[in-house]
This record gives sequence, C-alpha cells and structure tokens, in this order.
Amino acid sequence: MEDHIRFDAEACTLLLLDQRKLPLVEETFACRTVEDVIYALQTMVVRGAPAIGVSAAYGCRIALKQAMAAGAYWANELGRLLGLLVQARPTAVNLAWAVGEMREAARGIADPRELGEAWLALARKIHADDIAMNRAMGRFGGELLADGDTVMTHCNAGALATAGYGTALGVIRGAVDMGKKISVIANETRPFLQGARLTAYELHKDGIPVTVACDNACSLLMKRGLVDKVVVGADRIVANGDVANKIGTSGVAILARHYGVPFYVAAPSSTFDLATPDGSLIPIEDRTPLEVTHVGPTQITPDGVPVFNYAFDITDNALITGIVTERGVLYPPYTTSIAETIGRKP
Ligand code: MRU
Repeated sequence: MEDHIRFDAEACTLLLLDQRKLPLVEETFACRTVEDVIYALQTMVVRGAPAIGVSAAYGCRIALKQAMAAGAYWANELGRLLGLLVQARPTAVNLAWAVGEMREAARGIADPRELGEAWLALARKIHADDIAMNRAMGRFGGELLADGDTVMTHCNAGALATAGYGTALGVIRGAVDMGKKISVIANETRPFLQGARLTAYELHKDGIPVTVACDNACSLLMKRGLVDKVVVGADRIVANGDVANKIGTSGVAILARHYGVPFYVAAPSSTFDLATPDGSLIPIEDRTPLEVTHVGPTQITPDGVPVFNYAFDITDNALITGIVTERGVLYPPYTTSIAETIGRKP
C-alpha cells in the first residue's frame, strides 16, 4: 500500500486516504490549504509519525502557494503558515524534522517560483526516502524474527503510518518476504483503535495472519506463551534511547520484560531527536476527551466525569531489546549506539 498519500502537483493538492473511516470506508480527503493539512493531521485523517512528516512536507508546498497571494510579503506569510503547521501535533518529531528539512532547502532561494520547484522535489524525495528506509528496516529487522513466530504489535506502525511498507509492520513484512511464516497479534489500541481498525486492515489485505486482542489481554497472552516477540514503532526516540509511542506501549514493554519476551522498536532516522537527552522531556499530546467518552457516536461514560486522553507514553530504554533503523539494529548502551549510528551523516 503506497498510494494512501498522493500529491497532485498541478492542483497543488494533497490527497489522503481518510484513516478515520477505515476499515469500512475507503475515501480520499483533499487538502488544498495549509489549514486543511493541519485539520487532517489533528483529526487523524493521516497519522503515524513518518506519514505526518511526509504530509507536512507537501503541506509546506501548499503553504507556499497560499503565501504567494500576499504578494511582496509572501516570505512573512510563509513563515507564519509554517509556524502553524509545525505545531499541529507535538509528539511525533517527524513533523518538525520534515518542516526543518524544507526550511533548510529554502536558504538562499529568493524567488518563490524557484522555491516551489525545489520544495516539490524535496517533498517527493522525503516521500520516496521513507519507503526506502522502511524496506531497509524490513531487511534488518526481518532477521530478528524466526520462522513460525507470533509477533505482538501496538497501534499501527504500518504502511498507513508511513509512506508505505511500515516500520514495525515493515519488520514483519521483511520477515514474510524472507519466506518466514509470521502471525501477528494486533492490540486494539484504545481509544482511536489504530490496531483494530488499521493494523488488522492492512495485514489482512496482505494475507498476513492477524488476530486482534483487547489491550488488557496482553498479560494473559504473554503468560500463556502466545507471544514470541513484540515489535512496535515510535513517534520520537531521544538521545538515551527512551521511546515515545502510542499510549499503552510502555505497559506492553513492562509485561514483555516480566515474561521474558524480546521487545523491539522500529523507526527511521527521521524519528530520532538527539537534542533531547531523555524521555521525560518529550511533550505528550493530550487529545480531546471525546475519543474516550464516546465510541463512534455513542457516549459510554456518565456526563460530567473527567477522563484522561494522553495519546503517547514513554518506554524506558532499559526495557528495549533492540532498535531497528534503516542503518542497522541498535543495541544498548543506546546513548553510544544512537550517537554513533544516527548522530553522524550516513
Ligand atoms: O496518534 P498516532 O496514530 O499518530 O500515533 C502513531 C503511533 O504511535 C504509532 O504506534 C507509530 O509507531 C508511530 S508511526 C510508525
């Protein structure tokens, strides 16, 4: 699945498969303005750290077109629009990374038309590079899985969360491409149900056996020996190897340690934030209570009762067996392996 993020250059429009409606309805959501892109990011029409980065890169191109309407003040207006775009979601560092790459490429270009061409080319490169990085992770990570393994994953770190192939699901696809038989347990991932709706959708479509489990079944499944390995994605990995990923991930990691199940994280270099020393400093997105108080249109909690809806948690580096990147698999001590492998230009 590589056509869920498309860019129509002639119309300067970003076309996204609307992930809010999956798995039952496949519908395209068109972003013609930077406000549309921000709305798509915040309401999770498109979600998943690398997919957010790719969409934001195209969002910069759209922002430029919009800013050009300001005539001589286009550069100021562009700066304002990019400032809004970069704040759309706080935890996934790929958003700031992609906008940073676009800003860097704009240095020294004074003509907006020339910038438009440079930015379109760069956004397409960020898009293509993401797929290539995921396939490389699939080759490295696929080696970690054994023929016959059952792999638990949390949230959706698949093709839909990236430009294609996936990070955690890329590792699973890599093993399957090597001829190994792999089954997947997809944690449903309350409240947005990325596991039940999206991971199950894309693996089932690809013919990879997948079983959906309630998030709170994790301990029982591990205790019964039904989980050989855990592989998850990441929204941000900081200098000491602490990992921000979908809420519930750290609980899975703690259980995996308790039951002796290897716990792997898969993420491209664009998900690393070496400027942040440890996970306590990562901003955690606090989303609308409606995602918790309601399932679809149906209210499930009493009126007036407050809820928590933190969207991410932090997994301590000590719980992580290895981190799969497009440059190889990193092992503890992560401060050293991350600095040596991600801290330098490839
Ligand atoms: O809120 P989301 O759906 O954007 O969060 C995505 C995740 O947390 C995924 O687990 C993922 O690992 C990061 S994207 C490969």
